[in-house]
Amino acid sequence: MGRFNGKTAIVTGGALGIGGGVARRLAADGANVLIADIADDAAAANVARIKYAGGNAVSIHANMGSHDDIRGMVDSAITEFGRLDMMVQNAWGSPTTRVAGSAVEVPEEGWDEGMAIMTKALFLGAKYAVPEMQKVGGGSIVNISSVHGLLMSKGGLVYEAAKSAVIGMTRQMAIDFGPLGIRVNAICPGHIVTEKSTEGRWSKMPETLGFFADQYPVRRVGSPEDIAGAISFLCSDDASFITGHPLVVDGGLTIQLQEDFGVQQAKYARANEFQMPY
Ligand SMILES: NC(=O)c1ccc[n+]([C@@H]2O[C@H](COP(=O)([O-])OP(=O)(O)OC[C@H]3O[C@@H](n4cnc5c(N)ncnc54)[C@H](O)[C@@H]3O)[C@@H](O)[C@H]2O)c1
Repeated sequence: MGRFNGKTAIVTGGALGIGGGVARRLAADGANVLIADIADDAAAANVARIKYAGGNAVSIHANMGSHDDIRGMVDSAITEFGRLDMMVQNAWGSPTTRVAGSAVEVPEEGWDEGMAIMTKALFLGAKYAVPEMQKVGGGSIVNISSVHGLLMSKGGLVYEAAKSAVIGMTRQMAIDFGPLGIRVNAICPGHIVTEKSTEGRWSKMPETLGFFADQYPVRRVGSPEDIAGAISFLCSDDASFITGHPLVVDGGLTIQLQEDFGVQQAKYARANEFQMPY
């Protein structure tokens, strides 16, 4: 008997990457999972993978930049599965405008797109999900922030501001919705290797993966399964007294003294050519 048998979860961006792993894990734990994503083929493939493993999932096309799509996503979860218990707000990663750079460099459109998908979508998701969770006596929302919501990096105004805001939104929502039996938490992942980063960055510069791994006290970077396990815990009754918490899942990256971090960097002659991707 899975811990989420009979319950429903929405995972935004659940086709690939972290969201893909989260969708598989919640389904393996017994939840009916609705994957809301813009990558239709990849979402269908993840649904097939979940079903092959004995789980239950459906996917819908939903762009987290669209208010109508977000409302439709919650409606679809109710139509498909009759109730809503969990929502993991994770989607990001396919911007159509430039979002990297300092305040001087980033165009206004990049700010608008980043904030729309990384922050506004979380507000709209909660707007429609909370009343449905209330109908079943409570629920759990997990918002995906980042270690970049805690520590700032150069040239990352939009991402750092958005991921910081995710933590603030999570804490605020936890206060509003706690009395309704709805817990709201955030996850701050360190570097997680995904299908996209394996095909892209790491296939072009395989040595940099070692560079990243060496910055982590556990001497490895993370996997979607690392994040999925933490989210399954936060959604479960084992976490029933945890709300408003930004859970750092980063292999110890952010607890290090700067000097230790520097020692690892100095091992790499090309270190200054690398940029943190998140
Ligand atoms: N991978 C990391 O190292 C890392 C670290 C910290 C935080 N994060 C955060 O985790 C989340 C997932 O990142 P990832 O690395 O798995 O990304 P990814 O690019 O591997 O996957 C993102 C998924 O979201 C979907 N998506 C993108 N834009 C969307 C939109 N507008 N509407 C609906 N779906 C959309 C994509 O199609 C894809 O399925 C993001 O919020 C990211 O900021 C990632």
